[in-house]
Amino acid sequence: MYLTQEEESILEGEHGPTLKKAMEILSTLGDIYGADSLIPVKSAQIAGVSYKTIGDAGLEWISDLEGTVVVPSILNPAGMDLERWQEMGVDAKFASKQVQIVEAYKRLGVRCECTCTPYYIDKELAAFGDHLAWSESSAISYANSVIGARTNREGGPSALSAALIGKTANYGYHLDENRVPTIGFEVDCKLTGADYGALGCLAGAQAGSGVPMFRVRSKQYDTELKALCAAMAASGAVALYHVEGVTPESGQQEFPEETIIIERGQIDDVFDEGCGKECGNGYGEGYKNGCGNEPDLVALGCPHYSASELEEAARLLEDHTPAKEVWICTSRRVRDANPDLVRRIEDSGAKVFVDTCMVVSPATDRFGCVLTDSGKAFKYVPNLCGVRARIAHINECLAGEDSD
Ligand code: F3S
Repeated sequence: MYLTQEEESILEGEHGPTLKKAMEILSTLGDIYGADSLIPVKSAQIAGVSYKTIGDAGLEWISDLEGTVVVPSILNPAGMDLERWQEMGVDAKFASKQVQIVEAYKRLGVRCECTCTPYYIDKELAAFGDHLAWSESSAISYANSVIGARTNREGGPSALSAALIGKTANYGYHLDENRVPTIGFEVDCKLTGADYGALGCLAGAQAGSGVPMFRVRSKQYDTELKALCAAMAASGAVALYHVEGVTPESGQQEFPEETIIIERGQIDDVFDEGCGKECGNGYGEGYKNGCGNEPDLVALGCPHYSASELEEAARLLEDHTPAKEVWICTSRRVRDANPDLVRRIEDSGAKVFVDTCMVVSPATDRFGCVLTDSGKAFKYVPNLCGVRARIAHINECLAGEDSD
């Protein structure tokens, strides 16, 4: 990969060991993937924040770095609500390590905003055509597909390197030729809400790391496109998709010849999967806890809820006590901008947690089965928390007793 004189001097270590390390990571990736050069990035979103996922080795790596990021940079969710971690059931030792990780990122100039929905908190972070270095898989797909920005599936270290250098290697989804759809999906039924998470579970598994293009009968809300991003990134490795007539680059693309039809029955089957029918009350291989045959935690907000989703939850919880413990995850910024919605939700007994989520927090691990409206959480909670999961529409998730 071609490097400018200044980039060469960074690689030689003339600007200090941290930038040398960052340039080594970027140039190695560029060489592996055949990039021609480095290109400037508008922003970085850095994964590798939860102590649950990076442990002491990750904390040590970040703590050893010096210098300051040169583009706006924010963090992925941490392992706990940074203020209300005790209410989540996180222990003090974990909390102390988690705070050290966030402080280490702050020393590098990274904004202490821990969210997988950066596009809800700052429109300046990504616009159509911008090159980015983002590393949370649903955010990557949203940036590429819904915004029309351009980012590869960065790892935490490569996103942080891009934040420190202000550039990334020019390969993959930064190039037009890799944004062409490779597989078509015709959805033969109307979809709403969590149906998009279920669709993502099906389509992601078929598409793998390809670029799906959808023909869908119903019009999608932004939050439904977000749910589709997240589920396809979890059941496959989809980083970009198009929806005919909806997403910003779809007009430049041909609908692929290889097309799969998705029918209502297949979507319904996803909702019937999970622990409900077959698992009984057993512990089962790979699962930590018995589930009592019923979900014991409702976890919403994967990806982090928008204001409109908080509003829907508040409406469903009006005069109503949910039957189970309920966590709703969102970003600190969205929570703080909507105090009335948060109050209405919490008056019901549900909790609105920020900075974290049900997948990257160790607090989920004590439950037996998680009920969620997210295709991504449905796929990841069993694998990353060792806890069973089911997916349902939000009204079923929040069902409970009327309180009068
Ligand atoms: Fe976000 Fe956590 Fe889901 S990072 S996309 S809420 S798994």
